[in-house]
Amino acid sequence: MKTLDQIISARRSVRAFKKDRPVPAGHIRAIFEAARLAPSACNSQTWRFIAVTAADTIDRICRTAMRPVIPNKWLSQAPLLVVGCAKLDIVANRIGARVTGTEYYQIDLGIAMEHMALKATELGLGTCWIGWFSEEKIRSILDIPRRVKVPALLAVGYPADDAPSKRSRKPLEKILFSEKWGNSFPLDGE
Ligand SMILES: Cc1cc2nc3c(=O)[nH]c(=O)nc-3n(C[C@H](O)[C@H](O)[C@H](O)COP(=O)(O)O)c2cc1C
Repeated sequence: MKTLDQIISARRSVRAFKKDRPVPAGHIRAIFEAARLAPSACNSQTWRFIAVTAADTIDRICRTAMRPVIPNKWLSQAPLLVVGCAKLDIVANRIGARVTGTEYYQIDLGIAMEHMALKATELGLGTCWIGWFSEEKIRSILDIPRRVKVPALLAVGYPADDAPSKRSRKPLEKILFSEKWGNSFPLDGE
C-alpha cells in the first residue's frame, strides 16, 4: 500500500491514455467515494459530478467545448471524463459568499476533485485537470441546468507511457512565511 506522501509525489498530469482500457466500475466508484468524503463549507456538499464514459460524448466535448490555444486534443482518448459541477442554489453557500466575497463552492469542488485525483493515482490511474473549456458548451451537451456551475473537468485513464516528467515547483522558502507576511520561515529547525 502506498503512503500518502508517495501518492502525492506520484501524481502528475497525464495527457495520454491507454486506448481500449476502460476504468473499471469499482475504481470509478472508489474515486467518487473519495470525493464524497471531502470537506465543504458548512458541510454544504455543493458538488455534483457527471461521470462520462461514452467515447462519442467525450469526443464531442473534446471537439466542441475546448477553448483555442490550449485545445486539450488529447482528451478524446480519455476513457473517463469527470465533469465537476456545483449547485449554486444552496443558501448557506450564497449567504457566505455575499458576506465574505469568497465563492466557497469553488474551494469545495477543488478539494473534492483533488481527492479524486489522489485516489485515482493510488489505483494506478492517471488524471489531468481541465479548466480551459467553454462552460456553456458543456452545459448544452450534458443538459446541465443554469443554476449549476461547471468550474472544472478531470480526465481519468490508464497512462499510455511512462509517467510524464515531474513539473517544477517553487521552493518552500518562496511560498511559506512565518507568523507574518514576508517573514522567512526557519526551515532548518526541528
Ligand atoms: C484548475 C486547473 C485547471 C487546469 N487546466 C488544464 C487544462 O485545461 N489543460 C491541461 O492540459 N492542463 C490543465 N491543468 C493541469 C496543469 O497544467 C498542471 O497541474 C500543472 O502544469 C502542474 O503539472 P502536474 O499536474 O503534472 O504536477 C489544470 C490544472 C488545474 C489545477
